[in-house]
Amino acid sequence: MSGRGPSVELTDGNRVIDKFEAPTRINIPPDVLERMTDILPDETKRFLRAAIAEPDGTLREMEERGEDFPTVGRDVGQFLRLLAYAVDAERIFEFGSGFGYSAYWFAEALPEDGEIVLTEFDADELREARDYLERGGFADRAVFENGDANEIVERHDGPFDVVLIDHNKDGYPEAWDAIREKVAPGGVVIADNAMISGAQDFDAILAAIEGEDPEMDDGTRGIAEYLLAVRDDPDFETSVVPLGEGIAVSYRR
Ligand SMILES: C[S@@+](CC[C@H](N)C(=O)[O-])C[C@H]1O[C@@H](n2cnc3c(N)ncnc32)[C@H](O)[C@@H]1O
Repeated sequence: MSGRGPSVELTDGNRVIDKFEAPTRINIPPDVLERMTDILPDETKRFLRAAIAEPDGTLREMEERGEDFPTVGRDVGQFLRLLAYAVDAERIFEFGSGFGYSAYWFAEALPEDGEIVLTEFDADELREARDYLERGGFADRAVFENGDANEIVERHDGPFDVVLIDHNKDGYPEAWDAIREKVAPGGVVIADNAMISGAQDFDAILAAIEGEDPEMDDGTRGIAEYLLAVRDDPDFETSVVPLGEGIAVSYRR
């Protein structure tokens, strides 16, 4: 990984459930993990999974690759593509692209002359993203940017029809400040991990957006501040959808 300190993987002992920059690797006990990662009852998750079509072979392969990587997951990925179709997206910007799973979902919804900007600290992951998008025939619509997404965004003019925020959680408020003016009217911004992620605490986020001042780490504070900023922004209409680990969807009026 380039650009920052060492990368830490937060695991349940087998599966990586979050990844961020910090000096250690942390194993989460199963009961704590369940509290941190389950928004929806298992039956509801099963229902959602059965109700959407199987993705293509490359996406299924990427899901296998993603078993040890915190992608948005299939339910959110398919919803991202649905949103991109719904707003007739031509230009998309991602904060935090990993090995390209969410970008691949988006890319299918773009017209041939469309554009998706992928940003990623980790050059190896970005190379993988390029390989996967090439295999899908989408690489010509993709711009691969290696570095800090919150800096890269300054080099890209809007308007963007769709934005995904899914990088370091303490960087969400800064990402919002940088992108909000670049979102096209009728466009959407989606922030992943709005309700939970490996390191974020559902109860603390809830308390903060209800007006309390709970103890929080920087990542949790970043999510809470982001949710307050989008909720109170008069130019945007926001809801939180409890898919995956919760996504905040903000529509630019
Ligand atoms: C949750 S993963 C992204 C997953 C991706 N959106 C998907 O669903 O396939 C977050 C990624 O953001 C990267 N990252 C974290 N902070 C970043 C930053 N400030 N700029 C660029 N990349 C960052 C991490 O290296 C990691 O690969």
